[in-house]
Amino acid sequence: SPVTVGVAVGIGRFESQASLRYSPEAKALQQTVAREFNQVVAENVMKPQYIHPSENSYFWDDADYLVDFAKQHDMAVHGHTLVWHQALPDWMNTYSGNWDDMLKEHITTIVSHYAADIDSWDVVNEAFLDDGSPRQSIWQTNLPDYIAKAFNYANQADPDAELYYNDYNIAGMSKKLDAVLAMAKSLRQRNIEITGIGFQMHIDRYWPSLDNIREAFQKTVAAGLKVRISELDIRMNVNGTETELSPELAHLQQQRYQDIILLYLNTVPEEYRGGITFWGVSDKNSWVNYYYQHADWPLLFDDKLQRKAAWQGVFNAFTSH
Ligand code: G3I
Repeated sequence: SPVTVGVAVGIGRFESQASLRYSPEAKALQQTVAREFNQVVAENVMKPQYIHPSENSYFWDDADYLVDFAKQHDMAVHGHTLVWHQALPDWMNTYSGNWDDMLKEHITTIVSHYAADIDSWDVVNEAFLDDGSPRQSIWQTNLPDYIAKAFNYANQADPDAELYYNDYNIAGMSKKLDAVLAMAKSLRQRNIEITGIGFQMHIDRYWPSLDNIREAFQKTVAAGLKVRISELDIRMNVNGTETELSPELAHLQQQRYQDIILLYLNTVPEEYRGGITFWGVSDKNSWVNYYYQHADWPLLFDDKLQRKAAWQGVFNAFTSH
């Protein structure tokens, strides 16, 4: 397919069952990832907490392992994420030095380390609230112009890399998307590079509507920005009332995946497509189960790494387009 199709994977020891490197089923996971996708994203190990654990040290080992894995299998790597209000190391949370210098050092070191291997980055993640106001965070408090600075430093460290702003709910909440697009526009007015917008798309079987998603993609393209579906998964058990993925639910999920991928291909012109990334391989290890504390089946592969009906929906969309 001409569109990059990526997947988020665990690498670290702490990602016990899901780790591509350390889990008992690492080999099977690796085979599935290499067979089914052409891009990988670290689900956790490139976040500041893991890759920059103390002010003067970086931990590259797990992230390098993923980059090597991608090379061996001729896959691309997308970097996630340089700046976020979560997954911060303690030292950053309590930092009392020069925040501009610290941000610059953090971004320059990581982006330079991977300049030869990583072609696109989430530079800033989740900087706005759903109502479109700026999110309070250590960055907002200590360095109010941090978004512009982060994009600038990333661009200086690797002028060839694609640079994305990444957020959730922006395909369904127009106030939030408008704030993001206004931010991107103001960066460009200041001659600061931003390639496009990452739509995380942690969505469910009903929300957002296809019309809302289409409108959001169209607005973004009209603003001259690429559209990346960056963390796709589809929850089928929002209320927690389902006890299994029945054949009927599986079929609804297949249709929903097919609709979303087709909508993307039909709405976003080729030169504006930043690719599609699924947020995990198998249902068993999805963050959704961990976070919402009840069963759900949001992804393309089941607990035994078998293709689900959802996979068929994605396949049908790509082959019918
Ligand atoms: O380190 C502990 C480990 O010691 C423990 O055994 C294990 C099980 O309880 O938890 C381990 O860490 C967790 C880690 O995931 C690995 O499972 C963290 O507590 C947990 O906070 C972490 O969650 C990640 C979350 O981001 C926060 O960083 C999820 O895996 C990851 O899927 C999620 O991804 C985010 C994107 O980065 C940004 N967009 C939203 C998306 C979903 O929340």
